[in-house]
Amino acid sequence: MSVPTASAPAKIILCGEHAVVYGQPAIAVPVSSLRVTAEVSPNAPGQHGLNLVATETMEQIRIILGENTAYPEHPLSLAAALALRHWQIDSPDFTITVKSSIPIASGLGSGAAVSTAVIRALSLAINKPIETVALNGLVYEIEKLHHGTPSGIDNTVIVYEQAVYFVRGKPIERLSIDAPLHILIGDTGQTALTRVAVGDVRQLYDADPETIQPVLDAIGALVQESRQAIETGDSTTLGALMNQNHAFLQQLTVSSPELDTLVAAARDAGAFGAKLSGGGRGGNMIALVTPETIEPVKAALLAAGAARVFATTLQAG
Ligand code: PMV
Repeated sequence: MSVPTASAPAKIILCGEHAVVYGQPAIAVPVSSLRVTAEVSPNAPGQHGLNLVATETMEQIRIILGENTAYPEHPLSLAAALALRHWQIDSPDFTITVKSSIPIASGLGSGAAVSTAVIRALSLAINKPIETVALNGLVYEIEKLHHGTPSGIDNTVIVYEQAVYFVRGKPIERLSIDAPLHILIGDTGQTALTRVAVGDVRQLYDADPETIQPVLDAIGALVQESRQAIETGDSTTLGALMNQNHAFLQQLTVSSPELDTLVAAARDAGAFGAKLSGGGRGGNMIALVTPETIEPVKAALLAAGAARVFATTLQAG
């Protein structure tokens, strides 16, 4: 008998992170090769309630809703609790086992992907469908635990699993991609909390809005240009805009020496452009490459200290 399994992808932000919290547009795309899976199985003999088991890189925890109050704020527990409240049902008797190939706390959306996969698995287990809009709303609630004041871009790109042009509070716009985009993701190996970086940008903004607002506006403008470049297949322009975006993120203090080193290495090795992706201060950077420059840029990133490098291609469509 096949095991009911749900899943959700990682994501990267192509441009516009941080400014998106202030109402500017941003572009994010799913990384379908890095995923969280959540498997539904019967409880072991003698166990009852809903058991959520996180394996591999995540904590080994077992939560029995209604009985185990040790993790009331744990995102896994919250994901299940919010979903059960949505369906207005009590804890069913199942075990959901969560596995992930997405590095955690690295700007790749692992938190939103875990929540999405868990709620989808629960939906399979109890045989109650959930609308994508409702799922997106639930995952956003859990994102608040991770981020404090999330823009909603992570949950949206992960739940819909499609490239999005995102403006906070507005209906999502699908992005049309004219030519395949080849992207390398370089991991600094350093984890960083998005909540802290977002909070620091807020402090910067509050202390000196006259200086910071123009930076946010400039990021918003380059996101619009990036959209055009993606829609016309102009990788040279997109790469240059990614470089500009990285410089603005440095001004917002969310880069790090390690991110800057990887970004410089990718550019020197022939990438069209490179930038940090996500909350910053650690985590991942991205580089726009061609099939010909994938290998030299990947080698340069590893030589410059990347803990690992992932390749992803956004197909035209
Ligand atoms: O989860 P991260 O690290 O990819 O960051 C999400 C993007 C931010 O703009 C930094 C925060 C947000 O809520 O949009």
